[in-house]
Amino acid sequence: MSYLIVANWKCNPQTLAKAKALFNSVVSRIKNIKNVQVVICPPFVYLDSLRANGSQDCFWEEGAYTGQVSPKMLKGLGVKYVIIGHSERRILGEGPEMVAKKIKAAAIAGLKPIICFDRISQIKSMPKNSILAFEPVSAISKGKTYHPYPIEEAKRMRLALASFSTVLYGGSVNSRNAKDYISAGFQGLLCGQASLNPEEFIEIIEKIC
Ligand code: PGA
Repeated sequence: MSYLIVANWKCNPQTLAKAKALFNSVVSRIKNIKNVQVVICPPFVYLDSLRANGSQDCFWEEGAYTGQVSPKMLKGLGVKYVIIGHSERRILGEGPEMVAKKIKAAAIAGLKPIICFDRISQIKSMPKNSILAFEPVSAISKGKTYHPYPIEEAKRMRLALASFSTVLYGGSVNSRNAKDYISAGFQGLLCGQASLNPEEFIEIIEKIC
């Protein structure tokens, strides 16, 4: 069984030098790790320098769209996975139609979408082999204090999604609770705050491999 551990750096860190230091410190320590596929999603501006395998978002078109980044651009940089529909983007106005267009465009370009949701209604029409990430909004740390979602409730959600092959858990994941969410039946984890601390992030990986 191979688990997927995703690092969502969000809008961090503030310099390329810090991004390189964080990236290298994680990558150098996961070389011999087996059973875990690690996806690191830095901000767009660092993707090229880091040669990272994950992106935090993509647009669904190419051409005259100021400020957007197309799936093809990401693919050309060697990106393999793209987070889509994160609640921090939905809150800024990204609705279900946009999320659906992004998923489709990403897949057409050959990227693997990691589809975030916190209500079953957001993903019920997705193909059963999609990579989903259950991220209860109340559990997302906002980069400050951890307030983890009850394991029993997470387990109930995973059972309700039994027909989906890959569901990750995200929201206040840290080295103390990572193993519990995996034991609740999830195929991996999506880490925000914890992924900015290489020691903590490596500990999460080591706990589950
Ligand atoms: P968190 O963020 O681990 O800091 O709670 C998770 C996420 O929003 O993806």
